[in-house]
Amino acid sequence: MKQKIESLNAQLSAAIANVQNKEQLAAFWQEYLGKKGHYSLLMTELRNVPAEERPQAGKVINEAKKWAEAQYQELSARIAQIELEAQNAREAVDITMPATRRPAGSLHPITIVKDQMIDVFAGMGFEIYEGPEIEDDDHNFTRLNVHKNHPARDMQDTFYVADDIVLRTHTSPGQIRVMDSQQPPIKVLVPGRVFRSDSDATHSPMFHQMEGLVVDKGITLCDLQGMLDKFVQALFSADVKTRLRPSYFPFTEPSVEVDVSCFACGGKGCSLCKGTGWIEVLGGGVVHRQVLQNCGVDPDVYSGFAFGIGIERITMLKYGINNMGYLFENDVRFLKQFKD
Ligand code: DAH
Repeated sequence: MKQKIESLNAQLSAAIANVQNKEQLAAFWQEYLGKKGHYSLLMTELRNVPAEERPQAGKVINEAKKWAEAQYQELSARIAQIELEAQNAREAVDITMPATRRPAGSLHPITIVKDQMIDVFAGMGFEIYEGPEIEDDDHNFTRLNVHKNHPARDMQDTFYVADDIVLRTHTSPGQIRVMDSQQPPIKVLVPGRVFRSDSDATHSPMFHQMEGLVVDKGITLCDLQGMLDKFVQALFSADVKTRLRPSYFPFTEPSVEVDVSCFACGGKGCSLCKGTGWIEVLGGGVVHRQVLQNCGVDPDVYSGFAFGIGIERITMLKYGINNMGYLFENDVRFLKQFKD
């Protein structure tokens, strides 16, 4: 028995050298210490030992088993360490490698200019109102004094959604909605998207406008010009001036086109202002009595001015962009030049 144990111990010691991983460790346990392992089976051989030697042999077997178990524990700790080191090596991160960076986005130039415009008007006490992009004929045209067969409807090539429902062609219906919902004094700005069946280098089927409406007692065209002076000076440069030219819109009387003195050449004449010294920037006028009446505002008590600005146009002027398409193609090479 003693010999047997000694050779088994030698066998186990030799086997230890071959155990390199968890799987081999489990097999090792099975082979030596499992229920049918070599050391467990020694006990079954006790019955072949003469009775008087059995207690002694039993003790020797137990000790051998304990020794084998201790060997196993030691081996198991070593394997755990090896596995941990292997895992660490697999998962190692080289913190000196350069990181992969995501390119930072930036605001769209239209958003930048829209925000700047809102900032200037907000500084003058305007509130923001946003109306629906799908409008009824009534708000988009009729109550703005553009009746069904009015020739002015031709000025705005309209997308019809249904018989009397349109994609709003301008932000002016915002005027009607505001006057419907609040009494003067009114001082609002209506920024938003508008839609027209129109497309070339300076027109897009979807573009942005900013409507302004001021209604109170004693408002005149002079108030419009005074306010617009402040606006263009904040937006373009402190020395620009405005000029009003007579125009026609059904919802204002009188109506004006507003020019700003060319901020590129100072009014001498250049390619931006086409040699005239002036650049057209918006339309406006004194709110038509009929429009006030259509909204339940008494035109004998109140008067107002309104204006509509194309945000794309202002953006193109500010940045010297000559094709409106660039603003909607979303070419990153174009857009990344406008980091605010
Ligand atoms: N709604 C006009 C357009 O889209 C712009 C406009 C002109 C708005 C005069 C106004 C205004 O409020 O008074 O062309």
